[in-house]
Amino acid sequence: MQHFAIVTFGCQMNQHDSDRIGEVLRAAGLSEVSEPAAADFVLLNTCSVREKAEQKLRSEVGRLGVLKRERPGLVIGVAGCVAQQEGERLMKKLPQIDLMIGPDNIPELPALLADCVSGGPPRVRTEFDVDAPSFLAHSSAHGPSEGRSPSAFVTVMKGCNERCSFCIVPYTRGPERYRPGREILDEIVQLTETGVREVTLLGQTVNSYSDPGALFAPPRHEAASDWQHTERERARADESEFPELLRAIARQAPRLSRLRYTSPHPRHLTRSLIRAHAELGVLCRHVHMPVQSGSDRLLKRMIRRYTAAEYLERVTALKTAVPGLTLSTDIIVGFPGESRVDFEQTLDLVERAGFVGVFAFKYSERPFTPALKLGDDVSEVEKSARLAELFEVSNAQRQAYLSSLEGADVEVLVEGRGKAGQWGGRSERNEIVHFASPYELLGRLVRVRVLRANKNSLFGELAQAVDDAVLSSAVPLATTGAKELAGPAAAKPLRRLPLSPV
Ligand code: SAH
Ligand code: F3S
Repeated sequence: MQHFAIVTFGCQMNQHDSDRIGEVLRAAGLSEVSEPAAADFVLLNTCSVREKAEQKLRSEVGRLGVLKRERPGLVIGVAGCVAQQEGERLMKKLPQIDLMIGPDNIPELPALLADCVSGGPPRVRTEFDVDAPSFLAHSSAHGPSEGRSPSAFVTVMKGCNERCSFCIVPYTRGPERYRPGREILDEIVQLTETGVREVTLLGQTVNSYSDPGALFAPPRHEAASDWQHTERERARADESEFPELLRAIARQAPRLSRLRYTSPHPRHLTRSLIRAHAELGVLCRHVHMPVQSGSDRLLKRMIRRYTAAEYLERVTALKTAVPGLTLSTDIIVGFPGESRVDFEQTLDLVERAGFVGVFAFKYSERPFTPALKLGDDVSEVEKSARLAELFEVSNAQRQAYLSSLEGADVEVLVEGRGKAGQWGGRSERNEIVHFASPYELLGRLVRVRVLRANKNSLFGELAQAVDDAVLSSAVPLATTGAKELAGPAAAKPLRRLPLSPV
C-alpha cells in the first residue's frame, strides 16, 4: 500500500477534512497521487448537505469497481456525510466498498487500512466522539514554503445543535462540540510561523463558540443578552465567547494578517461581536451571514430563531460599525409553503441588506430532517424560476458593487496562479482578484489597482507605489530563470477560491 487518492465532494468543511485525512495518511507513510487510477487506496469524501450524494457516490463506486476488477488489491473507502449517515446499509448495497469512516474517526484510518490490506473484513466506523472530542490540526509541515496556500482553515467546533428544519448536518456531523481555546490559539500561532497569513475559523455556528477549557473570562452579559432573543436564562447559558476568542487570536498571533470565520449564525451576531469587528484590524471586512429567507413565516418554519427585521438590524449595526464591510449570504428558495409573497420578502431583504454575494439553493428534502413532514410543495419549475429571479437581483447588486471598485486599490493575498498564468488571490473583502506580474508573489500581500470588474472577479495591475517594499524582497523570475516557473508555487494551479461556506 503506497499511494492514495482522495476525491472530495461538496463543501469547504469537506475539503478541510480531506486535507486532514491526507495528512494522516502521509504520516502513516503513504503518498498522495491526484489520479484514482494510480492509487492503491481511493477515498471518496462525501457531502449530503444539498446533493443527492448517494447517487453520485454510486456512480463513483461503479467506476472504481471497474478498476478494482483489474487490480483486486485496490482498497475503496468512503468518508464524510454519506458514510456517517448510511454506513452499514450502503456497504451491503455496494460491496466494492472496503471501509466507511465518519468525520470523527479519521485518526483510525491507517489502522483500518492496515487491517483491510491484511485481509480483514469490510469495516464501518462512524461513532461521534461526544465524550472526548478530538480535533485534527494541520501537520507542522504546512506552509507556503512548500507551494501551499498562505490561507488556512482552523476548526473551532464540530457538529451543530441548531436543528434548522431543512438541515441534515446535525445528523451527519453530530452534536455541537467546541475545541479548547488553547488548542486553537496554538494551531494558529504555529501556522503563522510556517508563513500562513490568513486563517478562516471553521464551524457550523462558529460564532456560538464557548471554550470548554474556560480559558476566557466569562463574557459580559449586559450588552449581548438583549439580542439573544431567547428566554433570559437560556440567553445566559447560550452566550458566546467568540469575540473573546477573536481578541485572543489578535493578541497572540501578531503575524497573522487576516482573520475570517464561517459560518456564523445571525442569532450570535451580538453587540460584543460587532465591537470586536470595529476594534480588531485583523478581522476582514467581509462576513458571510446565512439568512435563508426574508419571510418571518418561513424563518419560523425553518426554525432559524430570528426575524427578518432582527437580521437586518444586526447586519446594519455591523456595517455601521465597520465602514466598507460587505456581506454575503445563503438563501433557500422553494422551502415548503413558500408563496410568491414570501419569496418577494426574500428579494426585498436581499436589496435592503445589500448583499454582494448570494449563494442560493433550491430546497431539497433531506433524510431525518423535521421539514420532511411539511412536504415539498413548491414545484421544481417554480423553484427554478425563483432561483433565476433571485440571481438576477443578486448578480446585478454584485456587478454594481464590483464595478464601483474600478480604479481603486485593493490589498490582495496572493494564493496561486490563475488559468492564464496570472496571479490570483482575494482581497480583504473576499473579491477574487487576478493580475499579471513576472515576480514570485505567492503568499504575499500586495496592493493591486483594479482595472476591470468581471462577472465574479476583478482584474488589475500591481500598484507600484505601495509595491516597492514587496518587490525588493521578491525574486524576479528573470534572474532565477525558467526553472522557478516550474517550482512548486508556479506548478500549483489556483485552487477554486472558496467563497461560500459548506
Ligand atoms: N451552518 C450553516 C450552513 C450549513 S448548510 C448555517 O448556519 O447556515 C449550508 C447551506 O446549505 C445552508 O446555509 C443552506 O442555505 C443550504 N442548505 C442546507 N440544507 C438544505 C436543503 N435541504 N435544501 C437546500 N439548501 C440547503
Ligand atoms: Fe446548523 Fe444546519 Fe442550521 S448546520 S445552523 S442546522 S443550517
